[in-house]
Amino acid sequence: MSKYKIGYTCGVFDLFHVGHLNLLERCKEQCDYLIVGVCDDKYVRDIKHKEPVYDEKQRARILNALKVVDKAEIVTIEETDDKILAWNKFQFDVLFSGDDWKDSERYKKTEEQFKKLGASIEYLPYTKGISTSQIKENLSKNH
Ligand code: CTP
Repeated sequence: MSKYKIGYTCGVFDLFHVGHLNLLERCKEQCDYLIVGVCDDKYVRDIKHKEPVYDEKQRARILNALKVVDKAEIVTIEETDDKILAWNKFQFDVLFSGDDWKDSERYKKTEEQFKKLGASIEYLPYTKGISTSQIKENLSKNH
């Protein structure tokens, strides 16, 4: 038995890489059932101002094929921005987020709201030296 029953994390996960895998493995160590919210293409374009390399369906398919992921589902901009909406949909016991969000006003507020729902937030470390943006940059430099 893990610390939590249902865990949730969300992200874009474009050009799936080892930084993504490290995060998901750490999430799965702490929960029995891991749900991954896959930010939709509209989020990538409108909020991150980037063009996805793999579209939302492909990104969700790759995540669904991983043994550390129990369910991956595409989520909207609203569900990405407002974690209460994500909770309404998935009713998880814990939200896993990058530790860069710790102590931010936004997450302090979410922690308060989650307390009432009986849900926790666990902050996990970001893997240094690798990101989708960096992979894209390296590819464009080398070709
Ligand atoms: N992540 C991580 N370590 C990395 C890259 C990502 O822990 N080196 C985590 C993020 O904190 C997030 C999830 O993986 O919880 C999905 O991140 P995403 O934004 O899709 O990945 P990046 O590679 O950071 O993408 P980009 O460069 O476009 O920002």
